[in-house]
Amino acid sequence: MKIDGKQMRSIWVESDSASVGIIDQTQLPHRLAIARLATLDDTTQAIKTMQVRGAPLIGATAAYGIWLALRADPSDEALERAYARLIAARPTAINLKWALDEMLGAVRNRPRVERADVALQRAGEIADADVTNNLAIGRHGLKIIEGIAAKKKGGRVNLLTHCNAGWLATVDWGTATAPIYMAHDNGMPVHVFAGETRPRNQGASITAWELGHHGVPHTVIADNTGGHLMQHGLVDMVIVGADRVTAQGDVCNKIGTYLKALAAHDNEVPFYVSLPSPTIDFTVTDGRAEIPIEQREDDEVATIRGMTKEGRLETVQVVPDGSPVANYAFDVTPARLVTGLITERGVIAANRAALAQTFPERVEVRPNSNRRVS
Ligand code: MRU
Repeated sequence: MKIDGKQMRSIWVESDSASVGIIDQTQLPHRLAIARLATLDDTTQAIKTMQVRGAPLIGATAAYGIWLALRADPSDEALERAYARLIAARPTAINLKWALDEMLGAVRNRPRVERADVALQRAGEIADADVTNNLAIGRHGLKIIEGIAAKKKGGRVNLLTHCNAGWLATVDWGTATAPIYMAHDNGMPVHVFAGETRPRNQGASITAWELGHHGVPHTVIADNTGGHLMQHGLVDMVIVGADRVTAQGDVCNKIGTYLKALAAHDNEVPFYVSLPSPTIDFTVTDGRAEIPIEQREDDEVATIRGMTKEGRLETVQVVPDGSPVANYAFDVTPARLVTGLITERGVIAANRAALAQTFPERVEVRPNSNRRVS
């Protein structure tokens, strides 16, 4: 997407051909800071600390991390070590494992002298495929928005989203935002309610920043506001991303997504989930029982970070000293609450038959197959 007229992706190979550039998302919305990843360590840290975040971008970053590791040491041991370190960086988004398995498949049987070059090429393909997928998701999702707009006879279409499933969560375009950007670019009057998404506020700080830079009308709301808006007919459609979708269509996404889905169901507001196929995990069925939910540091809940009037970034505590906190990063929305899955191959029902029929080649993947280097 464009930032101040300049075309940007969320990740790229730097001109030195020896490192990777990223937008440091921990600095948004206050600063557009670029960080450089030159080693496996840099990459693992960037994923852990959420300088890069969002399921598809985590996958693409890990793919480049394998390249950086192999540049330093192309041995089997180094490859295995890099895979193990990267996969442990964040547990919930399945795109991370998908991308690492793709990289392993591409390089493991290649001579050591070729491995780094092959890895760079495959990482680039993974990044490009994400953009292609999101464009297709955008076109399919756009039809849904057009349908709502037609019913409203050209009136403003109000969408509600949660967290950031925008271009900064992917390589470009975003999953939930791709249809929104396309609708806006086509001149359709769309407006987005962006839920702030405590504790890390990806909605308030990243989605709002993205939409603002693209000129999409939007309003930031406290997370608890979604249900109220839906009760009052102020939301035409909820659209969110996903970190993992199970074989039966359960959707794991940022904590709080489930509550939005419940409110949408109660108020007959369509609840759509946008995802590229690497987000599907055919090895798990019951999302609530089987998906590992990341628990992050207490500080993320106990404090809030922001910019003072004087332009200083500061962190302040919002809970009493000594109060225990819990920080679950994701939740699972059961398939029955999902109106449809917007994928690169079309809009499908959130159920096993539709997923298997649409992505038959992915069903072939054997459950829990632990690919190893040797
Ligand atoms: O913890 P985050 O910021 O990585 O979580 C991101 C989300 O939950 C997104 O909604 C999801 O990854 C979809 S990204 C297209």
